[in-house]
Amino acid sequence: MIEIKDLSVNYVAQGERQSVLEEVNLELAAGETCAIIGPSGCGKSTMLKVVAGIITEFRGEVLIDGQPVCPKQQKIGFIPQNYGLLPWKNVYDNIQLGAKLKNKNQNTDKEKLAAFLKQLGLSGLERRYPGELSGGQQQRVALARSFVLKPDLLLMDEPFSALDAITREEMQQVFLSIWRKYSVSTILVTHYVEEAVYLGQKIVVLSGTPGKVSKVIDNPHFGVENIRSRPEFFELCRELRKMIKEDWSR
Ligand SMILES: Nc1ncnc2c1ncn2[C@@H]1O[C@H](COP(=O)(O)OP(=O)(O)O)[C@@H](O)[C@H]1O
Ligand SMILES: [Mg+2]
Repeated sequence: MIEIKDLSVNYVAQGERQSVLEEVNLELAAGETCAIIGPSGCGKSTMLKVVAGIITEFRGEVLIDGQPVCPKQQKIGFIPQNYGLLPWKNVYDNIQLGAKLKNKNQNTDKEKLAAFLKQLGLSGLERRYPGELSGGQQQRVALARSFVLKPDLLLMDEPFSALDAITREEMQQVFLSIWRKYSVSTILVTHYVEEAVYLGQKIVVLSGTPGKVSKVIDNPHFGVENIRSRPEFFELCRELRKMIKEDWSR
């Protein structure tokens, strides 16, 4: 279980103090997915970085299974906005990287890695470098790297935003199929309403400067087969869009 309690974050830039997040509260059951949606600049990336243990100066509490977040003790998979691949390492080494750091240089077992590569459609690309891959393929490598780690928590910052619409939908599906298999607790940030409704069991609307939680929705359509072509899917997207617009225009 993930608990965020009264989280507030300030940045100091050029001598000025700016409040970025204020009193954010969120609970996520183990194995659940949560989509955070909000306008640019409302603190979404900041929030993920706090949960990832990258930003350590904050007020409030972030607990994973009752323990304060600590990247040394918990396995946290973090996929930053640009995928975070190392350009000078090939696909195989990029995927091994997280697990290597965690498991003190022990390589992940070869069969498991091969299975991941296959499931993600990366077989045959092991020796390529990130610069030789499409956006969708880079995204797959980033997913493989995180899942190989068997994370307690997976954090994804606008994971599919840089992809074209068709590839994005395909990758959302790829994500769901691996998530189903490993049921990893996941928080993902997005600015696409459809993505939030498709991937979030829980949908959290952040708004304002500083960012605050303005709505939490338990998504009744999550995981329903062919949901993307059903009227109730469009209906929830429409409602959510309206809510967000009202929020953001305030
Ligand atoms: N390292 C930093 N130092 C100072 N201000 C920052 C820093 N990172 C982000 N900010 C500011 O904090 C606010 C929230 O940023 P961010 O969390 O990246 O928002 P989002 O991901 O929702 O677009 C923005 O106004 C941004 O300019
Ligand atoms: Mg961001």
